[in-house]
Amino acid sequence: MTTQTIGIILNGVTGRMGYRQHLVRSILAIRDEGGLRLPDGSRAQLRPVLVGRSKDRLEQIAHRHGIAEYTTDLDAALADDGLHVYADFLLTSARVPALRRAIAAGKALYSEKPTAETHAEAADLAREVERAGLHNGVVHDKIYLPGLRKLKRLLDSGFFGRVLSVRGEFGYWVFEGDWQPAQRPSWNYRREDGGGIVVDMFPHWSYVLEHLFGPVRTVYAHTATHIPKRVDEQGRTYAATADDAAYAIFEVGRDVVVQMNSSWCVRVDRDELVEFQVDGTRGSAVVGLFNGRVQSREVTPRPVWNPDLADAHDYRADWAAVPDNGEFANGFRAQWEEYLRDFAAGRPHRFDFASAARGVLLAERALESAAAGRRVGLGEGPEAGR
Ligand SMILES: NC(=O)c1ccc[n+]([C@@H]2O[C@H](COP(=O)([O-])OP(=O)(O)OC[C@H]3O[C@@H](n4cnc5c(N)ncnc54)[C@H](O)[C@@H]3O)[C@@H](O)[C@H]2O)c1
Repeated sequence: MTTQTIGIILNGVTGRMGYRQHLVRSILAIRDEGGLRLPDGSRAQLRPVLVGRSKDRLEQIAHRHGIAEYTTDLDAALADDGLHVYADFLLTSARVPALRRAIAAGKALYSEKPTAETHAEAADLAREVERAGLHNGVVHDKIYLPGLRKLKRLLDSGFFGRVLSVRGEFGYWVFEGDWQPAQRPSWNYRREDGGGIVVDMFPHWSYVLEHLFGPVRTVYAHTATHIPKRVDEQGRTYAATADDAAYAIFEVGRDVVVQMNSSWCVRVDRDELVEFQVDGTRGSAVVGLFNGRVQSREVTPRPVWNPDLADAHDYRADWAAVPDNGEFANGFRAQWEEYLRDFAAGRPHRFDFASAARGVLLAERALESAAAGRRVGLGEGPEAGR
């Protein structure tokens, strides 16, 4: 029994994130299963309307997926009272003006991260949506992934005792583009085009750490541009002006020390492209995006430092895998479902524009720290991003 239809304007579906993660794997997957199941057993069907700059490209996507409505006229879509949610997957630099038009039209908002290029703009947006009383959410996909959900479950169970420290390792080798093409777009390596690993990844670390351990209170970051010259999509050599690695220490929540390495200049000797080791008084865990393993106090080995003897102990064997104990949907879809259920119930979504602003703030303060060579505070508590 379908009780309602939620109309969603999808702006930027020709892009990498907009097409695969948001349109195909989230909105269409929900639509094709008969809509979103609501807690009372009814379903809300989705009415997607594609918006973009190229009519031809929108038409191709619409035909491929049996979508009835698409337009290059954003204002016309915003004027349609049957469309409730405006979702934005544009290039970050094009986002703020588009969000402002949707705010003026009184739509609910859902946005890729970051909501804006500067903290001042992101904080303004957060204030504007709050003042206007608009339902709002920002993509925080990483915490919907199986590995981080397992970590949250461990934290909630009290497994760790008191959490002492976290060591996070994110990165992989991104080819320079000379003898093999680079696997990321060249603008990522130009600061003047909004590139840099801090701007790209620190908004993620902000909500991941806040969700798991509490607000980030201070940051010390050392950034580097390890590879000063790269080759772009046209085969032209260009100067890499943005940071391609960042080595950071965050003070988080109640005295948790987080060391986080983020780098596009490391070769992977890990099980996953990002891994976090959490050490607590009663136990430790190592989690990636999908898997996790734990070691409790009771089974912790007792190594003795002796450089004269090779150590035959297999430390890896002392860890136990954390089972799934459930099914994990695609992270983007899981958040879409939660956002839409919140919308249908008229309650706020927990990852809002204020949370997005705190992510941008962390990136800005990290760059400030790197430039000044000192630790920088973020202000008090979760309101710091406002
Ligand atoms: N959550 C994540 O893990 C994650 C990962 C990658 C990117 N992102 C974010 O998603 C957003 C999109 O990134 P992407 O990699 O899909 O980029 P993309 O370049 O593949 O897509 C950008 C989209 O914006 C449109 N666009 C570009 N310039 C425009 C303009 N001037 N006016 C209107 N539309 C314009 C393009 O047509 C395209 O539809 C970015 O804000 C990025 O930060 C998030």
